[in-house]
Amino acid sequence: MSGFVVDNPAARPSVVPRHLAVIMDGNGRWAQRQHRPRSIGHRAGARAVNLCVDYCLDHGIEALTLFAFSSENWQRPADEVGALMQLFMRALDREVDELHRRGVRLRFVGERSAFAKPLRQRMDRAETTTAGNTRLQLNIAANYGGRWDITQASRKLAEDVSAGRITADTIDEATLASRLSLADLPPPDLFIRTGGDQRISNFLLWQLAYCELWFTDTLWPDLSRETLNGAMHDFASRERRFGKTSEQLVSANSATSGKIA
Ligand code: FPP
Repeated sequence: MSGFVVDNPAARPSVVPRHLAVIMDGNGRWAQRQHRPRSIGHRAGARAVNLCVDYCLDHGIEALTLFAFSSENWQRPADEVGALMQLFMRALDREVDELHRRGVRLRFVGERSAFAKPLRQRMDRAETTTAGNTRLQLNIAANYGGRWDITQASRKLAEDVSAGRITADTIDEATLASRLSLADLPPPDLFIRTGGDQRISNFLLWQLAYCELWFTDTLWPDLSRETLNGAMHDFASRERRFGKTSEQLVSANSATSGKIA
C-alpha cells in the first residue's frame, strides 16, 4: 500500500502518502532576495520545518524525512556551515520536548561522527527521549548521501559474509535494503523538492525507486499549507503502477476498495 484514505476528506486531500521525503531548497535565495545573510534564510527554513511537521501530524502522514545537510554541504563557506550547526543545536534544545509531547519519534540518518560532540550528544538524547513515539516518524538526514547509504549497507553485507553470518549467494535486494538507513519504514511515496530545481541530489537513492516526485518553485521558507495541499492533491491523482498495467491495478483495487495500489 502506498497511501491511505483520510477519514474526513472535506477540504482535505483524499489520499496522503505514508512517507513523505523533502529536499528543503531555497533558503539562501530567500535571504538574498531580501539582501540578508544566508543564515537568516536557514533560520526561516527552520520555521518551515515546524509547519511541515504540523501538516504531517494533522494529516496522519506516518513518516517525514527531511534532507537537512548533505555530505556535500561541508563545502559551503565556513560561516554558513557554522551557522547551520548552531541552528541545529538550538532547534534540538528548543523543539525536542514539544515533539516528544506530540508523539513524534526523532531520528537522524547519515554519518554522525563528522559532527561536533555537543551536537552528537543532543542527537543521541533526542533519539533516546522520543524512541517510544509512534504518531510521526521524523527523520532528519544530516551529513547524509544516498551513495553513502548504499555503500554503508554494502559494507555491512561484506562484514556479514566474512564473519560467516550470511553467504554471498543469499544476497538479494531485500538483504541489502534491510541494511539501509530507515529500513524499518515503508519507502517514501512522495518526494517534494522546493526551490525550483528538479533533481534528487543524492538523497534517498535506493528508497526513491518508485516514489512520486513533485517539484515547486516555492522557496522553502515560503512553504505554506496551500503548497503542501497542492502536492497532496497531485499525489492523490497519480496512478502508481509499480511496473504493472492500469488494468491489473483496477482489478487489484476493486479487491482492496478505498485504497490505492
Ligand atoms: C538548502 O537551501 C537548505 C539547506 C542546505 C539547509 C536546510 C536547513 C534548514 C531548513 C534549517 C533547519 C533544519 C532543521 C532540521 C531544524 P540552500 O541554502 O541551498 O538554498 P539556495 O539554493 O537558495 O542557496
